[in-house]
Amino acid sequence: MSASGPTLSSEYASATALQIRIDAHDHHSEHPDDPTGAVLSLLELTGTENLADIGCGDARFLAQIITGGHRGRVVGVDTSPAMVAAAAAIPGVDATLADAEHLPFADEEFDRTTARHMLYHVPHPDVALREFRRITRPGGHVVVTVNHPGTCAHTRELVARHARRYGLDPVEEMANSVTSSTLPDMMDSVFGNASVHRFDNALVFASPAPLLRFAEALFSFCGVDPDSPHRAEIRAAVSAEINTWFAAHPGQAWRDPKGYIAVVATVN
Ligand SMILES: C[S@@+](CC[C@H](N)C(=O)[O-])C[C@H]1O[C@@H](n2cnc3c(N)ncnc32)[C@H](O)[C@@H]1O
Repeated sequence: MSASGPTLSSEYASATALQIRIDAHDHHSEHPDDPTGAVLSLLELTGTENLADIGCGDARFLAQIITGGHRGRVVGVDTSPAMVAAAAAIPGVDATLADAEHLPFADEEFDRTTARHMLYHVPHPDVALREFRRITRPGGHVVVTVNHPGTCAHTRELVARHARRYGLDPVEEMANSVTSSTLPDMMDSVFGNASVHRFDNALVFASPAPLLRFAEALFSFCGVDPDSPHRAEIRAAVSAEINTWFAAHPGQAWRDPKGYIAVVATVN
């Protein structure tokens, strides 16, 4: 285990844990969950806009835009070299290694700027929001998504409880306090307008194996480093508790409320 625990760099050194979480949301949501489609519909693209996606992850969102025939410039920005490499592998994506707080773009370079499920990782989210405004032309749109407070808290608490037994606590660097409760006011103060779209849902697991897989993809957020000497014991304890829960609740599914908002602002 590193002295300071997991870091953003260690969490996103590979796309695997993020892909497991996305896969869980794709396959185990109570209601159809399509955050990519939700953001796309809010962007009102005509096909020619220059678009920057900040914190693009593995860039599947940008791949969908390009597959849809988009002809404008499509830029993916991330601080993780692994994510930038994944984005660069998608034909048509201009992948850039950069920090949301210091974007290497000219003023008003883009028609649309998106930041999907990433602002809670940025140390100074207000600085990043001002950067999104700076690089977006007047009349252009900025769309930001963040989770509700307490999203998947049930599963997080299960992992965190076992991590705490080994003295491991969530690391501050992994997440700030930007949630659906705080983002609308933050965006309103930067852009002077903010229209909020709310999506409520839950993860539902009918059997232990996919829940354990999802729980393990939350380990870093609960302070468990990939190299922690306790990782195997914590995983075994989480697995045992999950199996016990299903044995005690025959025919029931594990249900964990979740949701997010997408906030759209227009640059004046
Ligand atoms: C939870 S993932 C979301 C990825 C993608 N937007 C999605 O919704 O699937 C957060 C992403 O933000 C990136 N990230 C974290 N801090 C960042 C920063 N300051 N600037 C740019 N990207 C950052 C991470 O490397 C990671 O790829």
